[in-house]
Amino acid sequence: MAATRDYVVFLLNGERHEVPRSVPPTRTLLEYLREDLGLKGTKEGCNEGDCGACTVVVMEPEQRSTLAVNACILLVPMLDGKSVTTVDGLFGPSGELHPCQQAMLECHGSQCGFCTPGFVMSLFAMYQDVMEYHDGKPPTKKWINTVLAGNLCRCTGYGSIVAAAERMFALPRPEWDVSRQAVNEFRAIGLRSKASLAVKNANGQFYAPLALVELIELRRIQPDSIILGGATDVCLWANKQLRPLPILISTARVGELQQFSHGVGRMRIGAAVTYEAAWSTLEMVWPNLGELIRRLGSEQVRNSGTIGGNIANGSPIGDMPPALMALGSTLVLNGPEGQRRMPLEEFFLAYGKQDRKPGEFVEAVEVPSHETGDRRLRCYKISKRFDQDISAVLGCFYLHIDNGVVTSARIAFGGMAGIPNRAKAVEAALEGKPWTMATVEAALPKFEEDFQPLSDARASKEYRMLTAKNLLVRYFHEMTSDVQTRLVGDGERIIAEVMA
Ligand SMILES: Cc1cc2nc3c(=O)[nH]c(=O)nc-3n(C[C@H](O)[C@H](O)[C@H](O)COP(=O)(O)OP(=O)(O)OC[C@H]3O[C@@H](n4cnc5c(N)ncnc54)[C@H](O)[C@@H]3O)c2cc1C
Ligand code: FES
Ligand code: FES
Repeated sequence: MAATRDYVVFLLNGERHEVPRSVPPTRTLLEYLREDLGLKGTKEGCNEGDCGACTVVVMEPEQRSTLAVNACILLVPMLDGKSVTTVDGLFGPSGELHPCQQAMLECHGSQCGFCTPGFVMSLFAMYQDVMEYHDGKPPTKKWINTVLAGNLCRCTGYGSIVAAAERMFALPRPEWDVSRQAVNEFRAIGLRSKASLAVKNANGQFYAPLALVELIELRRIQPDSIILGGATDVCLWANKQLRPLPILISTARVGELQQFSHGVGRMRIGAAVTYEAAWSTLEMVWPNLGELIRRLGSEQVRNSGTIGGNIANGSPIGDMPPALMALGSTLVLNGPEGQRRMPLEEFFLAYGKQDRKPGEFVEAVEVPSHETGDRRLRCYKISKRFDQDISAVLGCFYLHIDNGVVTSARIAFGGMAGIPNRAKAVEAALEGKPWTMATVEAALPKFEEDFQPLSDARASKEYRMLTAKNLLVRYFHEMTSDVQTRLVGDGERIIAEVMA
């Protein structure tokens, strides 16, 4: 067993900061900054990861990254060993503005100013990342839009903020910024501990083991503990539902769970791998999956959130399970009774219930992958807003067509039942048949055998069923390059009724 340390230490705006042992392990970074340390530059808007007003930047030297994250959905012990920069720490030694602040000023990127610290920090993360790790090459407008999608502004309008994002790369980089980054990196490496973390006080317990065996042992002793990946779901339980989180075990530093490998025929994604860490490889192999990830949460959410957490959470509208199911993934579980594997879809038993033994946790997901640029996988996310929104319906299709015949069909949906699930009757109606519109039309009624969706705030059951059918038609047209996508049956009438 590795040595353990019982206190949290991180770099805060370049200075070593040791967190008092009395601070509850469930205190969010936002509460800690504003209420305990009096650093009020970081704002609270929604307190649920949606608005980006609380954005701070975390640097992890080993990962060569500067990441924008939401302080309202991060717990203080999660920062252990990292470098945290807040808007209060951006100025130069004589009060000079950082290029990201200067550009906002020049481009009139602020009006009431409430969102401004959050935007500035997202710009700062992008600036440092580009300058330090991407040869200073200015990002494309698409990339800027992607980075800023997690920050909401209700009065300035985004045009001037996007202009500021472009402008900051045209400004000279101050020498003090270069040296400050180097010093922070050096100091952060010095803080990285070889000890696992065990913080305990009257308010709760937080563990961050380093190795799989430690995690298994902790789970054996405390099977009712709550596992923490990036906390983008768990923090909402505390912030919004006021649920107590007495014992937390973080997977973020468990070496085996952080591994992400792509070998011949198989990709293995450790449960603690974040979207950000996996994104570029997943996009290279399945371009459309890359697009789906771009629409999952925001830059801040993807920088913290893990793929393992998305699976383990078991939400019927989580975005990764349907895509990974369509690809034929295997889930690897581990725990006090040993390791076991299962097809991903078998993990989800019923709404809120997964196939997990006491103390068991998600170790990894393994995905068959045979070629890069595989465009047969299509993931259609239907949500009310393009960015930063949860799916009303997510349809993922992965069909193999040989000589005009469907040789295999894997189709999975989110938002159509209490769990993410495959459309097995539809798949059976397609397999072995010629890949024609007639086959597709004959398969459409089978959706009603596979799913009985519910109506809720996101969509009505009629809308969901019609959408699912139309997505298969869309897939057919996209795969056969026929742009004449048409509505199914009396779809137009149903849409009119739903909207009325
Ligand atoms: C603003 C915002 C937008 C979002 N948008 C989307 C979206 O568009 N699409 C989407 O799918 N999700 C979205 N989410 C939800 C969330 O970001 C994802 O579900 C994310 O993948 C959760 O990962 P995490 O590491 O943060 O999980 P955590 O919050 O740490 O954990 C989630 C659950 O999984 C459990 N868990 C975590 N890791 C393991 C493990 N290894 N073994 C066993 N149990 C484990 C936890 O105990 C908890 O029950 C959004 C969240 C926010 C705050
Ligand atoms: S306060 Fe809105 S994202 Fe944190
Ligand atoms: S400047 Fe007012 S919300 Fe953005």
